[in-house]
Amino acid sequence: MNDLIPPHTRGESIFVGDIPEPKNMLHVAVFISSIPHGKIKSLDLEEAEKSEGVVKVITAKDIPGENQLGRIIQDEELLAEEKVDFIGQPIAVVYAKTKEQAEKAKELIKIEYEELPAIFNPREAAKKGSLIAPSRTFTLGDVDSIWDSCETIVEGKVDSGGQEHVYMETQSCLAIPQEDGRLLLYSATQNPSTVQSTVSDILDYDMNKIEVDVKRIGGGFGGKEDQATAWAAICALGAYYTKQPVKLILDRHEDMIVTGKRHPYSTDYKLGLDKEGKILAFSADYYQDAGAAADLSTAILGRTLYHVTNAYFIPNVRVTAYSCKTNIVPNTAMRGFGAPQAMFVIECILSHAAEVSGIPISVLQEKNLLNEGDQFPYGMLVEKANARRSFAQVIEDSRFHNLVKEQEEFNNTSRFIKKGISIMPICFGISFTATHMNQAGALVNVYWDGSVGVSTGAIEMGQGVNMKIKTIAARTLSIKPERIRIESTNTTRVINTSPTSASTGADLNGKATEIACKKIIERLLNVAAEKLGQGEVAFENETVLLNSKKTDLAWENLVWSAYLSRVNLAAQAFYATPGIYFDSEKEKGKPFVYHAFGTAVTEATVDCLRGTYTIDKVHVVHDAGRSLNYLIDLGQVEGGLVQGIGWLTLEELQYENGRLISDALATYKVPDIHFAPEITVKFLEDADNPYAVMQSKAIGEPPFMYGIGSYFAIKDAAQKFRKDKDWDYSAPLIPEKLLLYLYNME
Ligand code: MOS
Repeated sequence: MNDLIPPHTRGESIFVGDIPEPKNMLHVAVFISSIPHGKIKSLDLEEAEKSEGVVKVITAKDIPGENQLGRIIQDEELLAEEKVDFIGQPIAVVYAKTKEQAEKAKELIKIEYEELPAIFNPREAAKKGSLIAPSRTFTLGDVDSIWDSCETIVEGKVDSGGQEHVYMETQSCLAIPQEDGRLLLYSATQNPSTVQSTVSDILDYDMNKIEVDVKRIGGGFGGKEDQATAWAAICALGAYYTKQPVKLILDRHEDMIVTGKRHPYSTDYKLGLDKEGKILAFSADYYQDAGAAADLSTAILGRTLYHVTNAYFIPNVRVTAYSCKTNIVPNTAMRGFGAPQAMFVIECILSHAAEVSGIPISVLQEKNLLNEGDQFPYGMLVEKANARRSFAQVIEDSRFHNLVKEQEEFNNTSRFIKKGISIMPICFGISFTATHMNQAGALVNVYWDGSVGVSTGAIEMGQGVNMKIKTIAARTLSIKPERIRIESTNTTRVINTSPTSASTGADLNGKATEIACKKIIERLLNVAAEKLGQGEVAFENETVLLNSKKTDLAWENLVWSAYLSRVNLAAQAFYATPGIYFDSEKEKGKPFVYHAFGTAVTEATVDCLRGTYTIDKVHVVHDAGRSLNYLIDLGQVEGGLVQGIGWLTLEELQYENGRLISDALATYKVPDIHFAPEITVKFLEDADNPYAVMQSKAIGEPPFMYGIGSYFAIKDAAQKFRKDKDWDYSAPLIPEKLLLYLYNME
């Protein structure tokens, strides 16, 4: 059981908004840009400053340190100084006694702009040289010499849309001044050390003057990897100036407007097959809509390039990716981190190639799946061919071939309701692609009564990482999990943390926890050996064994004895993923410690009179290694899948001249329980993974990409209705778009 469920369901779990408000706490209103691009001609704060309850109003000029949020590239001001680059960009901040007073004063701020031309299309940006960073190209083999020997060549374009994170808890922070100018920040972040260091730079502080504490957050999905920082910094600045606590919790509407999303991509492709359907060559150009600043876009672009071939082997590849600077809010990390966009593209191409070659897509997919020893375009070799195992397993479990026949019979007799099916294999690399980030620390404290507190750098965001860490500690110490408490993530207890992202939270922090627990057990066994004398001591199930026989020396006594013997009952440990490296000049290396695999079969029904559809059933066979917790992993697969289906079907971000108009949950539709399909998940058997803690596998992001299958199941059904028109490879496939296609009305 996930031990978060009881306190969550009782409403007892503490989030930033639940922390009792300290005395004299101030509230915040953020004044944002209302134009997509322009110079700030004048800014008049006078009325706002005089408004009731206002304690302080700040602008860029008031920032004592660096007015800078950018970490990879320093290109994003916290508060716009002379120029604004997107609608929603913070310009000034009001701190007041109540939220209403702050909001009211914000309305009194007067601004004049000189508008500049804006770019909203990544291809246009690339054409004009508006790039975040130089483009990157990965190559394998030699595409140019192969095209002539291809039997089938397909060329075309794929578009995919962005995606709002819709974390349940919006961006939040509470900053509390401490003695000596220090600040304690309760920040809803996936990335406490980056909040700590960025806020330090903004205040011109040393990092040790900022303490960030995170008990848990209400979902992140990547949206709080980088973009929790601005709001923490805004609270910190208020606390710095007023010496009063400051709290900011964005409301949903505001959050949707001012925070970045998954990157939309537009891609041109060319792919060649031989007569049998083997892919011989693949080239593509990916245009990523980064928005107005780098944020994590270049890292996300990298992960796109690492996943261009998904679970397939392609011997000749040349792919180039452009991070394009446009005038919308900077886009950011979101579950999959650029990989879903790449994996959608290759599936579109296979779908296109199947139509042109006449070879069924399932045959094309199967024929080209990765085998052991195959090479990825970035040089790494495939170690475990669980792509093929999961593919074969799900074909069998879902009765795929029977389903195809049954659907055919159904479709033959049904004029307007059509059924379709798809297969979606996935291969997702595990590790931060920035090699240095693959590190984690843990601190395990054993109190003299035998209870245990574990601190790591991992952030609990509903994904169950705390339960996994507790499991790892309980197994390693061989004690009941009830003895163990997972403490908040705090930058004074575990330092220099990497964000909880890239699916690595349990892998890295769990491994550090295991190492720390082993240190404790080793020390305790020395104590036991001294007490029990001759023989071999071991510890199992809360009890010391002497020569494999149970003794009376149980956990609590052993711990107490160790304490009396003045043995250290606290252990700090560190883990750094071994064996990974990358040469960014050659664009070759071993960026991932392993890959996660799996395959989904998706069944859909389309109402071809209305353009509406249902995703009926998804069968998943997923490689979770040796799962640390069945229910948690099941939840990650189901949740990821449904979020992925949302990305490709319902979730459409609409902008009008750079202004997000789908800016509320009334106009931005996410899948709900009624829309969710029936899901069956089987974890691949005998899939032990020597590269992660206790043979487990990372699971946060990979299952998201099963959702891509929904697009092709709908397409399959729709094309049973009309076959005479080229498909437009663009997502999301909202019902309106499907209807226009069905009746040739685009
Ligand atoms: Mo995640 S998209 O790596 O925070």
